Amino acid sequence: LTARNADLKALIRTIPDYPIPGIQFRDVSTLLLDGAGFRATIDRLAAMIEAEEVDLIAGIEARGFIVAAALSYALGKGKVMLRKKSKLPGATVGIDYALEYGTDRIEMHLGAVKAGQRVLLVDDLLATGGTALAGAALLRGQGAIVDKAMFIVDLPDLGGAQRLTEAGIEPITLLV
Ligand code: PRP
Ligand code: HPA
Repeated sequence: LTARNADLKALIRTIPDYPIPGIQFRDVSTLLLDGAGFRATIDRLAAMIEAEEVDLIAGIEARGFIVAAALSYALGKGKVMLRKKSKLPGATVGIDYALEYGTDRIEMHLGAVKAGQRVLLVDDLLATGGTALAGAALLRGQGAIVDKAMFIVDLPDLGGAQRLTEAGIEPITLLV
């Protein structure tokens, strides 16, 4: 596991004009194909936070689930799924939000998070921050403390890290 972060970043490919013209899409699927690269990624993310700082991990569907599940295992913490619209069977609470390329809605089960729990928000990639801010608002609405969010990669030109910081959330990212 001696790969440099630059080597890990090189495993993320860029696809122009997806999903709409003008978007340079960073595609983590090629990093996920590399077992050693993914393991190094998760080991390094896990080392960027103390398990004691986290009561629960929140993963954002869909790519966020992959990162959240691995971090949940690495840190020995449970996880709550923030799912896209109408996927959860129980009673839910949800929030609509804007994306770099459209709008969407995420929902969570009522009762999944207890008031005062410190929840680490996890996703694969930070772009505008709209998704992470929606996740934080959803969790905070249930009384959770959300002061850190973790991503494999940040796209700094899109301003997400600054927006999260302004909302009292420290963005923790491995690759820029
Ligand atoms: C992508 C990515 C993040 C979000 C980042 O997910 O996985 O969740 O967008 O963008 P933002 O910082 O501008 O909100 P997407 O909504 O494409 O869904 P997917 O994981 O289901 O592919
Ligand atoms: N790649 C993956 N997900 C994204 C991107 C991107 O470039 N922008 C917004 N969500």
